[in-house]
Amino acid sequence: MRHRNAQRFGGCAVFAFFPACVAGCSGIQSALDPAGTEADSVARLFWVMVAGGAAIWIGVVALLLYANRSRRRVHSERTASLLIFWGGAVFPSVVLALLLGYAFWLMPAIRPWAAFADTPSLRIAVVGEQFWWRVTYLPADGRAPVVSANEIRLPVGERVEITLESRDVIHSFWIPPLGGKMDMIPGRINRLSLLATRTGTFRGPCAEFCGTSHALMAFAVVAMEPAAFDDWLDARSSPSPNVAATGLNAFLANGCGACHTIKGTQARGEIGPDLSHVGSRETLGAGILPNTQVAIARFIAGPEEIKPGVKMPAFGMLPPQEIDAIAAYLKGLK
Ligand code: CUA
Repeated sequence: MRHRNAQRFGGCAVFAFFPACVAGCSGIQSALDPAGTEADSVARLFWVMVAGGAAIWIGVVALLLYANRSRRRVHSERTASLLIFWGGAVFPSVVLALLLGYAFWLMPAIRPWAAFADTPSLRIAVVGEQFWWRVTYLPADGRAPVVSANEIRLPVGERVEITLESRDVIHSFWIPPLGGKMDMIPGRINRLSLLATRTGTFRGPCAEFCGTSHALMAFAVVAMEPAAFDDWLDARSSPSPNVAATGLNAFLANGCGACHTIKGTQARGEIGPDLSHVGSRETLGAGILPNTQVAIARFIAGPEEIKPGVKMPAFGMLPPQEIDAIAAYLKGLK
């Protein structure tokens, strides 16, 4: 009796657990809540695989329950052999072969190489750094390149080519709601093609261990209507109108311009993220802090406390008013 109750409890637990798992499938970083054509194929492949796996699992559990039933009947050796042959060899082989065939058939949709034959309207060069993302927009229509960091914006309904590089170690670029992941390998350029199908703000993580702050290296992805995207890109090609002299002077006097660029100023460093329009980004510190003046000041004073292993030195020795002035100036760069 206790045995049968345990069986019943096991079955209930599995079915109670399943909706809980599925409830976690939506969100800004979910591959099962697709907002792009490639992610759509990946999600479909996942559910077909789940169905195939579930079919095998149900078959195995049914056999287990059958073998455990209280009233047993002895089978002939021939029946047992047939059961093992059909249930243990043929059925899983056929299901797995079908799933493999389906995955191969879907591959061109997940990695649309044909898309590279046409020149995309927009190419975005992304370089993985420890521990942030250098992003350069390269429009095909002759507009000047626009450099940014830790945020990727895309026009909805247009195929975008993303080139992936790294200068230090291997990182992996992944926007789960838009498509599959791809490594960024020093010394080579990998190409990814994505097409967003709806507007929204998503989150992309680094998907390959790349050092101390690997888990603190993410980026915001904003899929916009094409016209809004064009306006946004145009605004990024000129300097921010913000001219807070105190903050800018403190920024330059403390040597920040040796590592960071701010368009229209003497800051032309290229080691760290471009800050020309940093105030308008969704997040700060590569997806880990809200982009507020307080967070910027915190980052300037002690970046190592927020992101261990970061290459930026701490400026905690500066008077707090000076840090605040720099933070206010940077937040105003929109
Ligand atoms: Cu970059 Cu992990």
